[in-house]
Amino acid sequence: MQQRTAPGGAPAPLAALTSELGVLYGGDWSPEQWDPAVWPEDVALMREAGVNLVTVGVFAWSSMEPEEGRLELGWLDTVLDHLHAGGVAVDLATPTASPPPWLAHRYPTSSAVDRSGVRMAVGSRNHFCPSSPDYRRAARGIAGALVERYGSHPAVRMWHIGNEFGQVCFCDLCADGFRRWLQVRHGSLDALNAAWGTAFWSQRYADWQEIVPPRVAPYIRNPGQSLDHRRFASDLLLGLYREQRDLVRAAAPGVPVTTNLMGFHPHTDDARWAPELDVVSEDHYPDPADPDGHLLQALQDDLARGIGGGRPWVQMEQAAGGVNWRPHNVPKTPARMRLDSLRAVARGSDASLFFQWRQSLAGAEKWHSALLPAAGPDTRLHRAVRAHGAELRRLRPVVGARVPAEVALVFDWSSWWAAQEPAAPSDRLDVLDLLREWYRPLHAANVTADVVPPWADLTPYRLVLAPQLHLVEDADVPGLRAVVERGDVLVLGPWSAALDGHGRLRPGRFPAPFTDLVGGSGEEYVPLAAPVAVEGVLGAHRVGDWAERLRTDGGEALLVARGGDLDGVPLVVTRRHASGGTGVYAGALLPPAATGALVAHAVAAAGVAPAAAGLPAGVEAVRRGPVLFLLNTTGGPVPLDGLGGRRDLLTDAVLGRRQVLEPDGVLALATSDAAGAGPGTAGPLDG
Ligand code: GLA
Ligand code: ZN
Repeated sequence: MQQRTAPGGAPAPLAALTSELGVLYGGDWSPEQWDPAVWPEDVALMREAGVNLVTVGVFAWSSMEPEEGRLELGWLDTVLDHLHAGGVAVDLATPTASPPPWLAHRYPTSSAVDRSGVRMAVGSRNHFCPSSPDYRRAARGIAGALVERYGSHPAVRMWHIGNEFGQVCFCDLCADGFRRWLQVRHGSLDALNAAWGTAFWSQRYADWQEIVPPRVAPYIRNPGQSLDHRRFASDLLLGLYREQRDLVRAAAPGVPVTTNLMGFHPHTDDARWAPELDVVSEDHYPDPADPDGHLLQALQDDLARGIGGGRPWVQMEQAAGGVNWRPHNVPKTPARMRLDSLRAVARGSDASLFFQWRQSLAGAEKWHSALLPAAGPDTRLHRAVRAHGAELRRLRPVVGARVPAEVALVFDWSSWWAAQEPAAPSDRLDVLDLLREWYRPLHAANVTADVVPPWADLTPYRLVLAPQLHLVEDADVPGLRAVVERGDVLVLGPWSAALDGHGRLRPGRFPAPFTDLVGGSGEEYVPLAAPVAVEGVLGAHRVGDWAERLRTDGGEALLVARGGDLDGVPLVVTRRHASGGTGVYAGALLPPAATGALVAHAVAAAGVAPAAAGLPAGVEAVRRGPVLFLLNTTGGPVPLDGLGGRRDLLTDAVLGRRQVLEPDGVLALATSDAAGAGPGTAGPLDG
């Protein structure tokens, strides 16, 4: 994290807020969409529902500044005062994600341009160009006005900069910014030409002005140019965030500042953003109709925790029922809403916030669910919202607590971007698919993992899994190597370490910086025409899409191909070292059973324990501080033995010997209250 010395420039902890309020519960509230007569009713209903924090102002710029320079903030004064009087804290947003129409009308170049040169029209949101000096002046203006007016308002306990930063603009202003960014990154045109390999196809640049962003071009674009542009676009938005964050920090020291990230979103390198946020906050919209919805949400939760270095994070948005942006919006049941909310808390969130408090009656999201549906409080959904608010109050023991994890799952945005470039050996190697498939056996076995970038401190982890770290920066090699050198386990998946930090091939047998560690090396990537049989310590399987021509070099094979052109070729190699550490390289896109065997092999080699053992399949278990959470993801009732005498914090009930966990049911078991029931001592739930 960038350390600052100016007064008010220090990162503000979330703990000041959560130690007072407990788990934060609430969501976005848009009073500007309603008649002021509704506001007191809203606040009263919030109180009844146990809501203790709402995000205000996110999309209210045109209500705050209806004409350039003319502020109308009296209504917001009233709103904040109502909330404060009602005991509801405020996460005040700068409204800069959606500039009012006057900005684009008066300053046409303040709107973004897409790859093909089309300028975005007003009428939606996020149409601004992040480089536009007019946009930036206006954004600083409104953010500065809010900060000045509400910086010391007692209701305002958190600040929310913009919303879901995540757009890319290809306009001339952004092209200038790209050139400046490239000058800083590469220093000289010679260095840039070398990094991008511009001797290829006569692309050598002789003047910075010749460089443009990766706009529409006739054929495959230079991948180095595309990769650097992705990095630039993320940094550009981050600069925008920091500009407003610093305004807030100067005026409201001690109040945490954040912005809502979007998980595995392609336009922002969230691992690089996280250190700039006082608290990582995330928007999660798992699809209740997706059989992998549980898995994917858990993975995103583990990302939010991992990129924040294990700190408690904030579940900033989720849906209470259905969303409006899928083709077919299956709603969550109340039980599923509760389960997803509690999963986030179990996996390290100190908040369960929703989009949004009261359902809009008009606009693009009128069909999005809310904590308070258009049908009103006398609804099944709202009754569930109230019940959930009450039970969240009982989860104070986990607030601020850490989620222990001995496994790191390595994910890197640059690597993802580089792997997405077209004109590769195959389009069947998808980084997110691999991440999900390697996470699946961990999740099934209740082995907790932090999702971290390769440059994170990996020393706390006994097992480091990199499902597809296609690009590896030279600077990250020592940290990854050190995993094995100090006696822990490192597993690299297919097509890993193929590229350097500029996206150029690393010459020599692969994975070049790690071949000695994994006891083998490769010479050829082999997209398969037909499935290949493989067998070995990890079982007998068929590899369908991707293999690599490896050999063992001092190590041993865990899977060997049988038949065809790859007959006898090892596809998974490993080596155990004198340090006690083990390196593994899996040079194949393995089917689920083989991935499961590989991950289990690595977990066993590392000696990593699950959060709880002996549970029926589909019961997700996570430990957080003094609490063991059990979440039923099976879709049916599940009998659980061995819980007798344990206390469930959610109901405050002491459990009987045989417990049936209802579909989507959750238990939050205190692990320190019953003698003999602590972790490591209690039979079937023994960690
Ligand atoms: C995002 C946005 C919200 C809203 C929701 C709808 O998370 O931040 O403003 O649009 O999606 O699901
Ligand atoms: Zn632009």
